[in-house]
Amino acid sequence: MPIDVLVGLQWGDEGKGKIVDVLAPTYDAVARFQGGPNAGHTLTFGGQKHVLHQVPSGIFHPHIINVVGNGVVLDPVVFRQELQKLTDKGVEWGQNLYISKKAQLILPSHRALDRISEEARGNTKIGSTLKGIGPTYSDKIGRVGLRVGHILLPDFQERYQEAVAHHASIAAHYHKELEIKEFEDEFFSAVDFLRTLQLTDTEYLLNDLLAQGKRILAEGAQGSLLDIDFGTYPYVTSSSTIAAGACTGLGVAPRHIDKVYGITKAYCTRVGSGPFPTELTNEVGEQIRQAGREFGSTTGRPRRTGWIDLPALRYAIMLNGVTELHLMKADVLDGFAEIQACTHYRTPSGEHTPNLPDPGQLEAVVPEYQTIPGWQTDLTQLTSATQLPLALQEYLSFLEEELQVPIRIVSVGPDRVSTLFR
Ligand code: GDP
Ligand code: IMO
Ligand code: MG
Repeated sequence: MPIDVLVGLQWGDEGKGKIVDVLAPTYDAVARFQGGPNAGHTLTFGGQKHVLHQVPSGIFHPHIINVVGNGVVLDPVVFRQELQKLTDKGVEWGQNLYISKKAQLILPSHRALDRISEEARGNTKIGSTLKGIGPTYSDKIGRVGLRVGHILLPDFQERYQEAVAHHASIAAHYHKELEIKEFEDEFFSAVDFLRTLQLTDTEYLLNDLLAQGKRILAEGAQGSLLDIDFGTYPYVTSSSTIAAGACTGLGVAPRHIDKVYGITKAYCTRVGSGPFPTELTNEVGEQIRQAGREFGSTTGRPRRTGWIDLPALRYAIMLNGVTELHLMKADVLDGFAEIQACTHYRTPSGEHTPNLPDPGQLEAVVPEYQTIPGWQTDLTQLTSATQLPLALQEYLSFLEEELQVPIRIVSVGPDRVSTLFR
């Protein structure tokens, strides 16, 4: 039986959390496979908004197993806060939440190093969320990281001190000291809390579910253009955000993957630095920002906004093997008489290309647009895809033709119910 994977196709914040929540009832388990507290996944239902960072977005369904996979970097302090919030809302997670013993731990010193190294970058700052993501994944790859399973060992304190000493030497390289003393009590108390949770070898749990014929939804974080290999390097995050990352981040074999859901906004946003060919730094961009409430779920930063970028989407669709697209936030464009879609780039050498060039060249490409008539209809009131205005239906057909993938969901508002299936 299959595992389906849901990924963002742009620079994150496409609306992944919403769709995981919507699709979750058709699955037995939801599993996060990478990223950590840099993610902010928003779910809205029953008049309430919930933002999840490390807890999988299936958590509001008590009969669904939720897994924090080995590919995740976990901050125990943020995790405890998130779970406390859920408890306060009456959500029961004690029985259905599992955490991989192989997930990496984010320490206070990782957060400190994230800040130090970002400051040292001068005018090439990544725009990191400063949650310690890069330093924690560096330690994982450098084979010096601490895993969740280490908190169960009697020598955890010594291992922790060794890690901090290592981090202090890196900070010294930047002529800085680690300022973490005030965060350590909170960290160790969150680690005590983490010990009380269901820490396990989640690769066995997930493969047992597959063997029993159960269905798993793998929940991606960030977006394909932030992928460590294929994103706009170095302005990326430090994990494999594409569908293939679900295999290594959960311990499930590629042959189990069936559908790949590609999530994209009807336009484009980016938070943090790096190239963004279709960015609108004018009034139109501001109009999209206001209509789409484009402010970060994790950091509150205003998101950069621009038109949909088809060369970038084609690249992301190829990398992920997307089998169906979900077009999010279509309602945000309700007020526009015309919208633009970038179909090609013109490169500095004069080439006219439908493909994404090397990220190093992306700063220099000029987007070429096709103008699309707007639908100028209030989509938020629609309850069925059959009611979609003709202009939007034509836009969907245009996108399907350009991208060669069917659009199965059109999202017309933040709430669960504002989801139209085609
Ligand atoms: P994620 O990181 O991919 O889960 O996305 P975020 O939660 O960071 O950002 C998406 C934002 O758009 C959230 O505030 C959602 O509530 C909101 N949202 C999701 N789908 C829609 C939609 O179709 N229309 C509108 N207007 N807002 C949406
Ligand atoms: P979700 O899952 C949008 C961006 C940061 C920065 C870069 C590196 O909510 O879509 P990091 O803290 O990972 O070292 O930051 O990646 N970034 C995101 N942007 N959505 C996210 O997650 C992001 N996670 C990281 O802004 O540019
Ligand atoms: Mg987000």
